[in-house]
Amino acid sequence: MIEISNISKTYENGGKALRDINITIEDGEFVFIMGRSGSGKSTLLKLMLKEAEPTSGRIVINDMDLQKMPRRYVPKFRRKLGVVFQDFRLLQDRNVFENVAFAQRVVGASSRSIRESVPRMLKLVGLSSKYKMEPQKLSGGEQQRVAIARALINRPEVLLADEPTGNLDYQNAIEIMKLLKRINRRGTTVVVVTHSQELVDEIGGRVITLDRGRLVSDEVRGGHTDEL
Ligand SMILES: Nc1ncnc2c1ncn2[C@@H]1O[C@H](COP(=O)(O)OP(=O)(O)OP(=O)(O)O)[C@@H](O)[C@H]1O
Ligand SMILES: [Mg+2]
Repeated sequence: MIEISNISKTYENGGKALRDINITIEDGEFVFIMGRSGSGKSTLLKLMLKEAEPTSGRIVINDMDLQKMPRRYVPKFRRKLGVVFQDFRLLQDRNVFENVAFAQRVVGASSRSIRESVPRMLKLVGLSSKYKMEPQKLSGGEQQRVAIARALINRPEVLLADEPTGNLDYQNAIEIMKLLKRINRRGTTVVVVTHSQELVDEIGGRVITLDRGRLVSDEVRGGHTDEL
């Protein structure tokens, strides 16, 4: 469970990015975070990853109180979360397989476990045939699939995605959202930041909207797609 309680964030320059945000996300939920540019979406994800500290309030993720977490534990905590960004952030000098395997090597997984789990994950994201390709030869949608496979390889309970479809055309964006939905149905809690109203209308689900740092709505909307 993710509990965000009375969170405010004022940056050092005085900019108020978040104002008294309260959100509870249960295990297994799929949640969109929407809002215009500058509304505080990325700031909220950064606080959840402990990449920034709130000015006030409390965030608890799976019983871990982020404010009480010792600094030395932070890297380990971050590895418990899967994270996906708009710009993919792949290792350009490694092929698809190695990009996904790398996340496992970092946590000391055995070669045997890597040989078993990376192909399984590439199959899940539909990239089995491209495992030897270098990232720059892939389409944007394919690169994002690699990034999602990498984010999931260590079986995080929570996947956080900041504008994962921001660099993709609409059709690829829909495909990535459907993939995230499928991942969610397998049990992972998924939080997706987007400012695409069109995508949210298509996919549907719980939608939290921020406006100038305030939470202005938190509601469940129906989508248009039923073949998810
Ligand atoms: N490191 C920082 N220092 C100072 N101000 C910041 C910093 N990061 C973000 N801000 C400010 O905080 C506000 C919220 O920014 P944030 O990046 O969270 O918005 P966002 O909703 O993710 O926007 P976008 O849709 O453009 O990505 C903005 O006014 C921004 O200028
Ligand atoms: Mg942002």
